[in-house]
Amino acid sequence: MKLLIRGGKVVDPANGINDGRDVAIIDGKLAGLNGISDLSDFQVIDATGKIVCPGFIDMHVHLREPGFEYKEDIVTGTRAAAAGGITTVCCMPNTEPVIDNAAVASFVVDRARKAGLVNVLPIGAITKKQEGNELSEIGELVSAGCVAVSDDGKPVMKADIMRNALDYTKMFGLPVLSHCEDLALAADGQMHEGYYSTIYGLKGIPTAAEEVMAARDIILARLTGGHVHICHISTRGSVELIRQAKKDGIKVTCEATPHHLTLTDELVGSYDADTKVNPPLRSTEHVEALLEGLNDGTIDCIVTDHAPHHLESKDCEYNLAAFGISGLETSVAVCMNLVNQGKLSLEKMVSLYTTGPANVLGIDKGTLTPGMAADVTIIDPEKVKIVDPAEFYSRGKNSAFKGMKLKGWPVTTIVAGNVVTENGRIVTP
Ligand code: DOR
Ligand code: ZN
Repeated sequence: MKLLIRGGKVVDPANGINDGRDVAIIDGKLAGLNGISDLSDFQVIDATGKIVCPGFIDMHVHLREPGFEYKEDIVTGTRAAAAGGITTVCCMPNTEPVIDNAAVASFVVDRARKAGLVNVLPIGAITKKQEGNELSEIGELVSAGCVAVSDDGKPVMKADIMRNALDYTKMFGLPVLSHCEDLALAADGQMHEGYYSTIYGLKGIPTAAEEVMAARDIILARLTGGHVHICHISTRGSVELIRQAKKDGIKVTCEATPHHLTLTDELVGSYDADTKVNPPLRSTEHVEALLEGLNDGTIDCIVTDHAPHHLESKDCEYNLAAFGISGLETSVAVCMNLVNQGKLSLEKMVSLYTTGPANVLGIDKGTLTPGMAADVTIIDPEKVKIVDPAEFYSRGKNSAFKGMKLKGWPVTTIVAGNVVTENGRIVTP
């Protein structure tokens, strides 16, 4: 199979490329154009006016399988990823059973290989059953294909356990992805603690709930020399702590989500539970701090924290609703809007979805270098569409962006040389 992506603007940060050129794919791998004299037998994708990028990586996704298939499964979740321009997802272990042993990790790898539309790299649990008390068999998880460990959805409250996790994972060069939330400070909180929580009459989650744990984990990373990656950062204080820790040479990386980069707590006034997420949407000063963090390199990657939920757990009182936003199918378009508004350069955005996560995970992806697996994301910067969750491939229709008009959408997704979407819709069975 030979494919030629012709006439697009290629943005490949790893290779310093940001100009018009063609991209060739032969037998599922990227190929250099120099050695090819005859292009007549190539199938051509016309990318005129489009942006051609290395396949986007989303290293924080909840695929929900096994156990919560009524919310999402590996088929629907990877279809959602493909439609959203994502070619590789890392899936979180808060499933049932938890991905805390090789059998469950192998199940996920197997299911994804057979039924998944994009690359799926599992994340193993830090602790058995994510209960925070005893380390899981991390060596086993690595052998089964896990690329990181995390108890995401819950913090590891015991500092000695986190210390041991950071110590032990050094042996495998694995990052520990930390969900930073002090449970006592966050208790029963529904939204960001501030002006709007008072007005709206909802219990607040203070920024300190995240920051005290981020500070703790940075101190433990310094102590152990382990690599801590702080999940979904949402506050100015977290940005400042991580910026300083990086200056101090501590092995810390972090991620931010499209919703924390663009939405504020004011939106919760609709009492629409699709705005309920953990950590919560924060106020403008925090959104601005995150944007600064993206631009100065403090924040390493953009992730969705795709958290699909079924209707019953969202179509209810705000206090009773589940936390989470279904994000895979809006992520790139939301971030293209940051580019359109001049808040982020296109090249930076692409790096936050490619080289950024690839470096955090130490995986050989995120570039268009010849010889690599041909994962490619093509964006139409001119396409305008209103977000309609009814069109989502994801079972989770819980979008905080519904009804918003966005410009710049992923249109074609190529995974290992296979064209899986055209014009943003799945084309393979
Ligand atoms: O909003 C969230 N939803 N935050 C988390 O940390 C977990 C996630 C989920 O699993 O639903
Ligand atoms: Zn998560």
